[in-house]
Amino acid sequence: MDSESFDNLDMQPEDFRKLGYRVIDVITEYYTSLHDVRVFPASTSSDIEQVFTEDLPGEGQDPFGIIEEWKSKILPYATHLGSPRYFGFVNGSGTMIGTLAEALAASVNMNTGGWKPAPSATEVERRTIKWLAEMVGYSNDCGGLFTSGGTMANFTAIETALRNLAPYDTTSKGLQDKPISGKFKVYMSDHEGHVSIIRAVDLLNLGRESVHLVKSREDFSMDTEDLEHSIEKDIENGDFPLCVVAQVGSINVGVIDPLEEIARICKERKIWFHADGACGAVGILLPKKRSQYKGIELADSITMDPHKWLYIPYDCGCVLIRDAEKMRKSFSLNAPYLRGTLPTEYTGLYYLDYGPEMSRGFRALKVWMSLKHLGTEGYRKLLSQNVGCVEYLDTLVRKDTDFETLHKPNLLMYCLRYAPTKIKAKYASDINELDKRLDALNQQIVDEIQLSGTAFLMTTKVLGRVVIRFSVCSHRTTQQDIDIVFLKLKEIGESLALQSDYS
Ligand SMILES: Cc1ncc(COP(=O)(O)O)c(C=O)c1O
Repeated sequence: MDSESFDNLDMQPEDFRKLGYRVIDVITEYYTSLHDVRVFPASTSSDIEQVFTEDLPGEGQDPFGIIEEWKSKILPYATHLGSPRYFGFVNGSGTMIGTLAEALAASVNMNTGGWKPAPSATEVERRTIKWLAEMVGYSNDCGGLFTSGGTMANFTAIETALRNLAPYDTTSKGLQDKPISGKFKVYMSDHEGHVSIIRAVDLLNLGRESVHLVKSREDFSMDTEDLEHSIEKDIENGDFPLCVVAQVGSINVGVIDPLEEIARICKERKIWFHADGACGAVGILLPKKRSQYKGIELADSITMDPHKWLYIPYDCGCVLIRDAEKMRKSFSLNAPYLRGTLPTEYTGLYYLDYGPEMSRGFRALKVWMSLKHLGTEGYRKLLSQNVGCVEYLDTLVRKDTDFETLHKPNLLMYCLRYAPTKIKAKYASDINELDKRLDALNQQIVDEIQLSGTAFLMTTKVLGRVVIRFSVCSHRTTQQDIDIVFLKLKEIGESLALQSDYS
């Protein structure tokens, strides 16, 4: 760069346009390749670290060269969450319009912490939150905002519960001036409750042990008799039942807890009812699943993550809170430099008053644009396609005597286990040994399929056993992809099963 260009960081319009067109070409090529791309790069961390070993640039560089490094250095070592055969964590595939929305949002660079620095962005967020609320049958005048993800959404909900329900002022005194001897308690189911709730209570300094794990029923849903019993026992001990977290599409098996029953239990005892629908809340759009969601509208708060089953590019979580004022009471604070303006009609909602973040990007735009592009009808079709893939996989598993599942399919989650009849027969009299070998075998299968590049799968545990977990939340996945992956799992399984470590 010559010294003149340092006077103004901006490029000339023609240069920017050329560079932008180049970027669009690169992205378009990428989207075109997604069906055949190696899902995981299978390079070691130190290899990839080496690729990026370079000194802090002293002199500026040619932007075209920098963009080419995206192709030569970043793409080859990326994991492709947009692949139709990526089934890791609960990672959405990313809408194309969402990609463009990210660029547009960055170009104007509004800060949605406050209305004044982000008038239209704030109103887009307000409207999009209303749409999501409507989608899950929640009151349209609820509070809510976009967060970095489900963990921060759950944290925001539980902090709101604590600030509003604690029998003393936790806002000014925190936990330092506690006039009660017992402990605040948060309840979730033992098998399917999500670890982000532990993170939330941790951030609130309630202690990880404040989460009480409620027994699950055979179908993995929360046993509400045990919930009631646990609450009563805690009350007798002088503890303070603060919040019950229900799963709405759980992490391993996609179960939905009995929401109406949990709502009743919470209402009777003035306990906060939080519905963690990070993965599954949007499944309410599916007519054949809708009855399972009865009662979600009674929750005090709902987590739903657009970056999961709405396929929005990272990052984008969302929390809805029935009573917006309770959010404001929990998070609002003031300083002379935060407003710096008169409260006239030329100002509005300051999201920094409603959640933990102050500076915030324009996350809402990618959700707003994707919802407009696809409509609820488009989403209904895609969600139904994903559920269809899960059901299809279940039929493949049930037809093949070398595979098994430990649960019924629901929504987008499915866990299976490679359990060849030969190994089962050999260790039939020693179930512990059988489980040990199958656990090791299934773990190895997953590691190998990742390295093969055909698909990205992970293991989890169901009923204490290692299983192969599918989270089908790509809008690109078809039954053909399921066939390819199932065959590959079988092929790897058969070859590993010949080794003495497993058989
Ligand atoms: C049920 C549930 N809640 C919360 C979370 C946390 O979401 P995030 O990873 O976006 O913070 C997850 C993540 O998978 C989840 O499945």
